[in-house]
Amino acid sequence: MKGIVLAGGRGTRLQPLTLVSSKQLVPIYDKPMVYYPLSMLMLAGIDDVLIIALPTEVEQFRALFGDGSRLGMRITYTAQDEPRGIADAFRVGADHIKGEECALILGDNLFHGARLPSLLRRTARELRGCVLFGHQVAEPRHFGVAEIDAKGNLVSIEEKPEHPRSNLAIPGLYFFDETVTEIAKGLRPSARGELEITDVLRVYLAEGRADLVRLGRGVTWLDTGTHESLLDAGRFVRDIQYHQGIRLGCVEEVAMFMGLISAEACLDLGSEMSGSPYGQYVMASARSHRDNPVPPELLEY
Ligand code: TTP
Repeated sequence: MKGIVLAGGRGTRLQPLTLVSSKQLVPIYDKPMVYYPLSMLMLAGIDDVLIIALPTEVEQFRALFGDGSRLGMRITYTAQDEPRGIADAFRVGADHIKGEECALILGDNLFHGARLPSLLRRTARELRGCVLFGHQVAEPRHFGVAEIDAKGNLVSIEEKPEHPRSNLAIPGLYFFDETVTEIAKGLRPSARGELEITDVLRVYLAEGRADLVRLGRGVTWLDTGTHESLLDAGRFVRDIQYHQGIRLGCVEEVAMFMGLISAEACLDLGSEMSGSPYGQYVMASARSHRDNPVPPELLEY
C-alpha cells in the first residue's frame, strides 16, 4: 500500500508562522508537525510515502527526510501548485499510487491512542473499497460529517453541514483501494471551488464500498490549523510524553519498531541529535530495543 501526506495548504490562519515555512513544519512541542502524520502511515505498515507540498516548500521537506532511506523508507515529493482541495492529492499523486491501494493523511492531523497502530494495520490489511474514520466532536459543523444507522453502517457524508446529522466528524485519514485515481478523475470542483474528499467518499458509499470505523473513546484526534489548536496540541504532546515517558510521532523509533531500520541505525540517528532530549530518547530507545528486543506481536506502539 502506498501513502500520501498532503502538506500543501497555505496555512493562512497560522500566519506569520507560515510566511516562509510550511505549516506542516512548524513545531508541535518537540518536533515538526509532519512527523505525526508520517508516523501514522508508518505504523499502518506503509514504507513508500509521497509528500505533497507547495512548490516553494517541497525542498524544505526534502531537506528533512531526503529520499527516506535513513528511515528505511522511500519518500518522494511532488508539488501541488495551488491548494485545489484534498481530493487533488489523487491527481497530483497519480504516478505515485500507480493503481495500488493508498492511505491519505492530512499533514496537520495528529492522532494518538494505544490501540490505534493495530487498528491501522488491520484496516490496511482488510481494506475493501474505502475506509474513513468517525470521531465524536462537540462542533461537527466545521468538519466532514458522517451519518450512521443503528447498526453503525455509513448512511451519508456531508462537508461542513449547517445542520449536522450526527456529531461524528471525519478526520483527515483515509484508506482507498486502487480505484481511487479513476474516481478522482471524474471529480468537479465544488461550490467553494475545491475537489472535495467527501465527493470521493460519496462515490464509494453509493457503490456500497465505504466503511466507517469509529475511533472511539481511546483515541485523541487534534488538528492544528490555528494558533490556539497548535498550542493545545503542543501541550497535549508534552503532557503525554512527560507522564508516560514515551514520545509521540518519533519517526526514528517507529522505523525501528516497524523493522524498517535496525536498532544500530536508530542509535546513529539519535546520536546525530544527542544534544537534545529528543535525540537522547531515540538513543535510549534504540539501546533498549537492541539489548531486549520486543517481539513485534507485543508491540502495542
Ligand atoms: P486546510 O486547513 O483547509 O488549509 P491550510 O492548511 O492551508 O490552512 P488555512 O485554512 O489556514 O489556510 O488544510 C487542511 C490540510 O490539508 C493541511 O494539512 C493542508 C492540506 N491541504 C493541501 O495540502 N492541499 C489542499 O488543496 C488542501 C485543501 C488542503
